[in-house]
Amino acid sequence: MSSVCVAVSRNVLAFRNSGMMVMVRYAQTAAAIAPEPRIKKFQIYRWDPDTAGDKPRMQTYDIDLNACGPMVLDALIKIKNEIDPTLTFRRSCREGICGSCAMNINGGNTLACLNKIDTNTSKVTKIYPLPHMYVVKDLVPDMSNFYAQYKSIEPYLKKKDETQEGKEQYFQSVEDRQKLDGLYECILCACCSTSCPSYWWNGDKYLGPAVLMQAYRWMIDSRDEFTEERLAKLQDPFSLYRCHTIMNCTKTCPKGLNPGKAIAEIKKMMATYKEKQAAAS
Ligand code: SF4
Ligand code: SF4
Ligand code: FES
Repeated sequence: MSSVCVAVSRNVLAFRNSGMMVMVRYAQTAAAIAPEPRIKKFQIYRWDPDTAGDKPRMQTYDIDLNACGPMVLDALIKIKNEIDPTLTFRRSCREGICGSCAMNINGGNTLACLNKIDTNTSKVTKIYPLPHMYVVKDLVPDMSNFYAQYKSIEPYLKKKDETQEGKEQYFQSVEDRQKLDGLYECILCACCSTSCPSYWWNGDKYLGPAVLMQAYRWMIDSRDEFTEERLAKLQDPFSLYRCHTIMNCTKTCPKGLNPGKAIAEIKKMMATYKEKQAAAS
């Protein structure tokens, strides 16, 4: 072999070797940078009424938190999309507005889209449907009774003289409008009602904190003319008076509202209303 050929083959070898070294170094660096998987266990209530003989059970799913968004709803969507399409839950807005992703996460009622995943991987996150509700499937509660109760309080503006309806705007002072703050923001997620022991035991007759807060919202609306009638409708032992001021409702509200206080205000209004009724009779 000529000395030129030897020099060329040495260079090729050196080039190959340096290329391999670069690749090896790259692989080592990539391995050093790639984060360790952070496997988190989610234990989720499952029940499918369409499968004969199916009984409620808990099912465990492993999720790598490095490949998942930060909220519990992100984990549920990931499970449904990538692991188990049969997992059933409600969600829509994923920003705490629609109220549909309400469920019980690690023992508290809250919105899955506003609830951050506990990143401690040694702890299992447990998810159940809202408590003491009939279950439609998996994490989906039957809201029929809740909505029927909401309908029963007539959650809309009522006027004695309906002939003017739609003809002109019903004005309200800035001060009167402010009285509705902390009430109108309710998204009817039912987290509060389903955390209330009184509602657990008498949910068919006691209206519960969410619906009562909306009843109060219309009672104090300066444009509404049916305050007394609204109060009269709650005059029975169950609709209002099953509230024992335990305040679970206020503690759990994911929107930071205070249904317990609204109920206390209705009770005060009711006392005045009853005195007036007694004086008139
Ligand atoms: S304050 Fe009343 S409505 Fe709220 S949790 Fe207690 S009993 Fe239920
Ligand atoms: S008061 Fe809060 S917890 Fe109750 S329904 Fe409204 S937003 Fe949900
Ligand atoms: S998805 Fe709408 S409140 Fe959570």
